[in-house]
Amino acid sequence: MTIGQLLQWGAEALRQKGIESQELESEILLSFVFKCGRDRLFLRNSEQVSKNLELKFKRAVSQRLTRQPWQYITGETEFYGLKIKVNQNALIPRPETELLAEAVIKRWQPEWSTVLDIGAGSGAISIALAKNIPNARIWASEISPGAGALATRNIRIHGLSRRVKIVKADVFPVKKQRYDCIVSNPPYIPSGQLKSLQPEVSLYEPWQALDGGRDGLKFYRLISKKLKEYLNPGGLVALEIGQGQGKKVRQILKTCNPGMKIEILKDYAKIGRIVLGYR
Ligand SMILES: C[S@@+](CC[C@H](N)C(=O)[O-])C[C@H]1O[C@@H](n2cnc3c(N)ncnc32)[C@H](O)[C@@H]1O
Repeated sequence: MTIGQLLQWGAEALRQKGIESQELESEILLSFVFKCGRDRLFLRNSEQVSKNLELKFKRAVSQRLTRQPWQYITGETEFYGLKIKVNQNALIPRPETELLAEAVIKRWQPEWSTVLDIGAGSGAISIALAKNIPNARIWASEISPGAGALATRNIRIHGLSRRVKIVKADVFPVKKQRYDCIVSNPPYIPSGQLKSLQPEVSLYEPWQALDGGRDGLKFYRLISKKLKEYLNPGGLVALEIGQGQGKKVRQILKTCNPGMKIEILKDYAKIGRIVLGYR
C-alpha cells in the first residue's frame, strides 16, 4: 500500500468506529509510525510502505479503535508549544489548561520567585511556567508515584531539573513554606459522573486525576483552607475549574479567605474555566 492509501484506510477504520477527526488522527498515527512530521506525509503520498511499517500503523489504528487516546499510543502530546511525554499514569494535558498557564505567566510579578503546582500530572503546567518565567522556582506536588516519575522525566527532558522539583505529597507539601503563586488543575469531576465520561477518559485516564469527590469540589475546599499558611500575602492562587463550578469555587475561596479579590476567566467556548484569587 502507498502512504496515501494507508491514510485513507486508517481514516475509514476510525470513521466506522465513530471517532471524530478521523483524517487528522490517521495522519497523526502514520506520522508517529514514520517518525516524520505530518506535512512530510503529503509530499510522500504515492510512496510504497514496507510491510513492517504497514503492520505497525495497523496496530496503532487498532489500539485507537479500542478508544485509547492517540496521545497514549504515540506517547507524546503538545502543551503550550512544548512536547510533553504522556502515559496512562497521568492525565493528558488539555488545551484549556494552557489558559491556566497563560493566566499565571501574564500576571507574574517581577518580585515573585516561588510557585506551588498542586497535582503535577505529566508536569505540563510547571514546565510551561518554568520555560516562560525565567526566575520562577517551582515545587509540584503529586500523590501518584507513576505521575511523579513521568513529570520528573519531562522536567529532565526540558532541562529544568534545577528549577522544578516534584514533591510526593497529599495536596500540600509537608514542609510549611509560603509561595508567591499557587496553581492547580485539580481533579474536579464529581465521583458519580466518572463512569459516564467518554470511553477515552473513563477507560484510559487515571481516575485519581479526575475524581473530585461527591460534588467535584473536594480539592477546592482543601486548597482554600490552607491558603493562609501556604500563599504569601499579595500572592496569586490560580485554579482550573469544571463547567458550572465558578460560583461555588468563588464562594469556597471567599468563605475561607474573606477579602480575597476573585476573578473568573472564560475559555474560548465562553465557559468559566479559571478562578484567580489575590491574597
Ligand atoms: C487533573 S490532573 C492535572 C494534571 C496536570 N497538572 C495537568 O494539568 O495536566 C490532577 C493531578 O492531581 C493528582 N492528585 C490527585 N489527588 C492528589 C492529592 N491528594 N495530592 C496531590 N496530587 C493529587 C493526580 O494524580 C493528577 O496527576
